[in-house]
Amino acid sequence: MRNKVIAGNWKMNHSPIDTRNFFERFNGLVADSNNEIILCVPYIDVAAALESTHNTNVKIGTQNLNHEVSGALTGDVSVKMLEDIGIKYSIIGHSERRQFHHETDDFVNLKIKAAFDHDIIPILCVGETLYERELGIAREKIIIQIRKDLEDLPANYARQIIIAYEPIWAIGTGKTASKEDANEACKLIRDEIKKMYGTEIADEIRILYGGSVKPTNAVELFDMPDIDGGLVGGASLEPDSFAKIVNFDK
Ligand code: PGA
Repeated sequence: MRNKVIAGNWKMNHSPIDTRNFFERFNGLVADSNNEIILCVPYIDVAAALESTHNTNVKIGTQNLNHEVSGALTGDVSVKMLEDIGIKYSIIGHSERRQFHHETDDFVNLKIKAAFDHDIIPILCVGETLYERELGIAREKIIIQIRKDLEDLPANYARQIIIAYEPIWAIGTGKTASKEDANEACKLIRDEIKKMYGTEIADEIRILYGGSVKPTNAVELFDMPDIDGGLVGGASLEPDSFAKIVNFDK
């Protein structure tokens, strides 16, 4: 039985002071949850977030990483630096980074392998644009991303990855995929993993849905058989709203 993962993505929001205030309220609200709770915060908030969640059931992740260990890469933060301070999760290949920072599948693939080499679990994001959906090529887009992003990834790494299906037209728009469509896409990903790595690993991997998840739609989405939780943007910024999503099963 796969346990649910509820991951928040703060994007470019909240200062270290906001971070401390958030966890002061949030930690108590989710202390009884058996779900895996991850908050992916901006780099500048990582120290405050790690301190504020010490000895709690809340884990901290980042929203990106550079696959190089060190070097002349102005403005970047390396996978090794994150490992050294105890980061265990990172979003990789979010559509906003693919779109605004021109991250390709080859680059995403390098980051995924580097993350595992440094003991960091990637939360890989895949999903189609509205244009691709209307053209009827959403499935092909998702399959190509999975194939390229996981290329040559060893099975012992693949079994630990978290994948988020995030249709780009649903991100930050208030439009959510129907629970049936979201489940179908997550199942498509699981079937592809099965072809690549076999049934056992496909059954183990957690596949999340992301795109305008809110307290009001979390239950119906997360109750679907192939949806193992959510990657939540806007609704993770405020402790009460994110706690309601984490506690969807209470
Ligand atoms: P949203 O963002 O919940 O605000 O739509 C989701 C995401 O981009 O991860």
